Amino acid sequence: MASTTFHKRAITAGLAALVLGLSACASGDGDSGGDDTGGGDGGGDLISVGFAQVGAESGWRTANTTSIKDALTKEEGFDLKFSDAQQKQENQIQAIRSYIAQGVDYIAFSPVVESGWDAVLEEAKTADIPVILTDRAVDTEDDSLYVTFIGSDFVEEGRRIGAYVSETLATEPIKVVELQGTTGSAPAIDRKTGFEEATADNPNVEIIASQTGNFTRAEGKTVMEGFLQAYPDIDVVYAHNDDMGLGAIEAIEAAGKVPGEDIKIVTIDGVKDGMQALADGKITYIVECNPLLGPDLAEIIKTLDSGGTVEKRIVTKDEEFDQEAAKAALPDRQY
Ligand code: AHR
Repeated sequence: MASTTFHKRAITAGLAALVLGLSACASGDGDSGGDDTGGGDGGGDLISVGFAQVGAESGWRTANTTSIKDALTKEEGFDLKFSDAQQKQENQIQAIRSYIAQGVDYIAFSPVVESGWDAVLEEAKTADIPVILTDRAVDTEDDSLYVTFIGSDFVEEGRRIGAYVSETLATEPIKVVELQGTTGSAPAIDRKTGFEEATADNPNVEIIASQTGNFTRAEGKTVMEGFLQAYPDIDVVYAHNDDMGLGAIEAIEAAGKVPGEDIKIVTIDGVKDGMQALADGKITYIVECNPLLGPDLAEIIKTLDSGGTVEKRIVTKDEEFDQEAAKAALPDRQY
């Protein structure tokens, strides 16, 4: 079920627009928050959107930023204000407050961590500015604080990687180390949960160490160096994103071992560098997390702006790749 969200700008848009609904992006479920929201008229005829991005921590994030900037252009009717929080929640909160003060029509953001958003989201609600969550969820009791959440199912991504490890790599006992994403972030929490769920019934899978590499290549490498020193018998690295997996490759090679042979690496994302490493046999398996959310975000905003409705949860579709699939996909890979 989804309820209609009216926007000040939509009042002049005519009754016909009220029947518009979002049908494009994959599947959805649940209610739309449905508060009667509206914002300032920051961009004249343009729809003003404040987007508070997490940072530039990974290839995935760079592709996501490009997708959003390419979709929310003036030509498409948007006045986009963009900020980079450098992976700090306080910066993101500050950016959102600044968008509220500017009276933008819509706010969209990908929360760096799950908790601690209620106060600033209440401020946006009081200012009648609809909030759209992209990529990552917030942990709140009050789902009227945002209109919709579009992004991947991170638990399912973890499950899919876990199923591959359990069925393909753990036919005999294996020792797994886990490079977690940013502590407290939805993808780190959910990908850990999904992996543990999918491997729980296989006694051959032993997770011997788990530490955050903050979704960056540099920190992934540093943490992997520590793992290699502490555990001489690692069989598999589960990295919550490609970049940390690529950092692990550097650490493994520096330690004189062969990634893909001595130690298998499985990751999530499917960015070009990760897919190339998979095609080269250094990574063994990748579950995709699609970063190209810009066109769907633009459509969501246009739908809301015309007085239409959107689903409360819109789940994007992700594929998965082994070496052959990566070789086939690489020539046309957009990111
Ligand atoms: O929230 C999506 C995750 O954030 C991506 O998997 C990771 O690469 C990024 O930093």
